[in-house]
Amino acid sequence: MRITSLIGARPQFIKEAIVGAELRKAGIDEMLVNTGQHYDANMSDVFIHGLNIKTPDYNLGVGSGSHAYQTATTMIRLEEVVLKEKPDMLMVYGDTNATVAGALVGSKLKIPIAHVEAGLRQHPKDMPEEINRVVTDHISSLLFCPTEKAVDNLEKEGIIRGVHFVGDVMYDLFVKMRECLDISTTLADYSLVRGRYILATLHRDFNTDDRKRLKNILEAMNEVSKKLKVVLPLHPRTRKAISVNGYEDLIRDILILDPLPYSDMMSLLIGSKKAITDSGGLQKEAYFAGVPALVMMPDTGWIELVEAGWNLLVDANKELIIDKAFSHEPRVNAPENLYGDGRAGEKMAKIVAGFSRSER
Ligand code: UD1
Repeated sequence: MRITSLIGARPQFIKEAIVGAELRKAGIDEMLVNTGQHYDANMSDVFIHGLNIKTPDYNLGVGSGSHAYQTATTMIRLEEVVLKEKPDMLMVYGDTNATVAGALVGSKLKIPIAHVEAGLRQHPKDMPEEINRVVTDHISSLLFCPTEKAVDNLEKEGIIRGVHFVGDVMYDLFVKMRECLDISTTLADYSLVRGRYILATLHRDFNTDDRKRLKNILEAMNEVSKKLKVVLPLHPRTRKAISVNGYEDLIRDILILDPLPYSDMMSLLIGSKKAITDSGGLQKEAYFAGVPALVMMPDTGWIELVEAGWNLLVDANKELIIDKAFSHEPRVNAPENLYGDGRAGEKMAKIVAGFSRSER
């Protein structure tokens, strides 16, 4: 069996680190295509090399641009590759523009689509990632769900066939990498003391591209940072938004870093007191690390962590962020086994290997 996997953005490199290795173990021939949506070395190469991902067979060189530009350019360039390589299946990950572009190309060429991280749903319904998820799920043949909730979400939309609860490959990777982390050295490298700082990320378009929300969030983080250091590895989108709006003065007390490699990020997360984030990945990795997170979104695809009282939705509410940064202490232990048993990738590879076209 020959499969084409499509990656392009930071979270997809992370997921491919597990899935690619498991596909190889299952004897599946994987061809890797990188759309090139993320192209800065610290947004792409550092993950490909640091996580031992095989060198992509193709780089489509798509880069940055509008949603239509990224999606359409990926579609046109990927179609040529797929027509030439004729894979038996196309694997897409998560909810980015690469995900939906790959799903559209494959399904129109009648190549079955496998969607890793299927079934997540959240408000606002017009956020780009939500649109990408819904479209992708409805045209996929294999839907690999990270949670039971995701299975339920799909069922509500009438999608039952090809749906598998396997667990979360990001949990697989965390379990695998945890043993190799040198947390004390990494904390010392950044002059941080365990439990005495908050790790933050910020990159969602509804937070970076809305002046008022961005200002609220930065002011809140800066205020918190005067008492409990906030460490913010900065996504290039956010760096640009801060510069365009002239908000440099608002972040004087925050420790701003460049985007970090996976192992540094996980070490800083494990060493932190709390996370403040609008990243889907980090709010869940915080739970893996035993750290609660304040989620700067009106809703989340990982709602089970909020329902359990572990994470808290604070949206872009300045006062709430400041208050909860100090006061949110989950009264519960971290809930267990929400994201599988650390063998999601292995389960997926087995299902892919046994997939026959009759299942479509
Ligand atoms: C994308 C995904 C989002 C994911 C995020 C992870 C979509 C719709 N969104 O958002 O789901 O959570 O990746 O990071 O696909 N830029 C650079 N260098 C880079 C990459 C981006 O400077 O290597 C800048 C460019 O100005 C670009 C902006 O960041 O316009 C946004 O990048 P883009 O890839 O469009 O979306 P993300 O915000 O990264």
